[in-house]
Amino acid sequence: MPRFTIVVQYSGVPSSKVAAGFTAWTRTPDGALAIGEPQIAWWWYPSNDHPSDKATFDVSVSVPDGVEAISNGVQPRPPVRETLGYTRWSWRSLKPQATYLTFLTVGQYDVTTDTTADGSTVYNAYSQLLTPDFRDAAKASVERTAEITDWESTVFGPFPFEARGGVVTPPGTLGFALENQTRPNYSSAFFRRGSNTSVVVHENAHQWFGDSVSVRNWQNIWLNEGFASYAEWLWSEKNDEGTAQEIFDYLYATYPDDAAIWTTAPADPGTAELFGDAVYDRGAMTLHQLRLAVGDDDFFTILRTWTAEHKYGNATTEEFTALAEKISGQDLDALFQAWLYTPSKPVLAASLAAPVAPKSWAQISQTHTLLHEH
Ligand code: ARG
Ligand code: ZN
Repeated sequence: MPRFTIVVQYSGVPSSKVAAGFTAWTRTPDGALAIGEPQIAWWWYPSNDHPSDKATFDVSVSVPDGVEAISNGVQPRPPVRETLGYTRWSWRSLKPQATYLTFLTVGQYDVTTDTTADGSTVYNAYSQLLTPDFRDAAKASVERTAEITDWESTVFGPFPFEARGGVVTPPGTLGFALENQTRPNYSSAFFRRGSNTSVVVHENAHQWFGDSVSVRNWQNIWLNEGFASYAEWLWSEKNDEGTAQEIFDYLYATYPDDAAIWTTAPADPGTAELFGDAVYDRGAMTLHQLRLAVGDDDFFTILRTWTAEHKYGNATTEEFTALAEKISGQDLDALFQAWLYTPSKPVLAASLAAPVAPKSWAQISQTHTLLHEH
């Protein structure tokens, strides 16, 4: 195969680009955010903008002196002063990365850095526009990224990337959080009521489910959101703040019978429900039903085999259900038909006693309200 290099030159003003009344590029009081799902990449760089076409990335950005420009991965060199009051920031993402997971956050940030036990860089950044209350709550959460990803590694397999961290954006600029590869970005709203580790668990679980193992096409989105949501349930369980079973029971009893969670099939949500309750909560409920059916040993083997077999690749719902059947040796067709493919409320074998909200519910529901509604 002959090798060749393609150079694409382009220029523009991303904030002026509006599609269907919508701008993915966000101007902030002190800079900009290029953060979005599924659309963001083409606002600022040319690409084959599909999750199945991954690449490694070098991002090099010149900004006014004293302003941070933050992206994925590691810094191959420190920021370099250029002429005329501008500084160039360089970032490098060493592993295959889907286009929507490449981000750029520009503004004035307080930065903390650390190194994990396995030698990877932790780089966290907090907007200087956060009020002290928000900044403290954000730090109490995001500074736990190394601890949380270490715990997730024990559940999902080795952390797939070379760097970790998180970025908390200015108030009123980003309405959700996004699992940008190696370094999620968070809306400050997650920290409105104090610390929220649930969202840190969720976004970092996506490093395995979504970023390393990416969807083959967007229809498979529950493979990202159902799994990241279930990670929150496992975190709740580990911290004695409510078992996954208690969270399942609460959701099963609480959603009205005609709610979109039941009238949408998680495996085929359509564009309107791409980030809806069926994808997040019913996706997680599906995994819980799978866990009950196959037992903990096989369930966690399925998760770890999944992340290992599709590392840095793409996968589909059908590949997941086939793997679950192979590892468990069970015919799981009825379970997956009811939970993933049928747009009606699955019937349980035993009826539930009136469930109460688990202790972790305040954080989990705050996380989900912000992730679903935007
Ligand atoms: N993947 C993000 C998360 O759950 C949510 C992004 C929501 N984006 C949207 N356009 N609704 O962490
Ligand atoms: Zn998510």
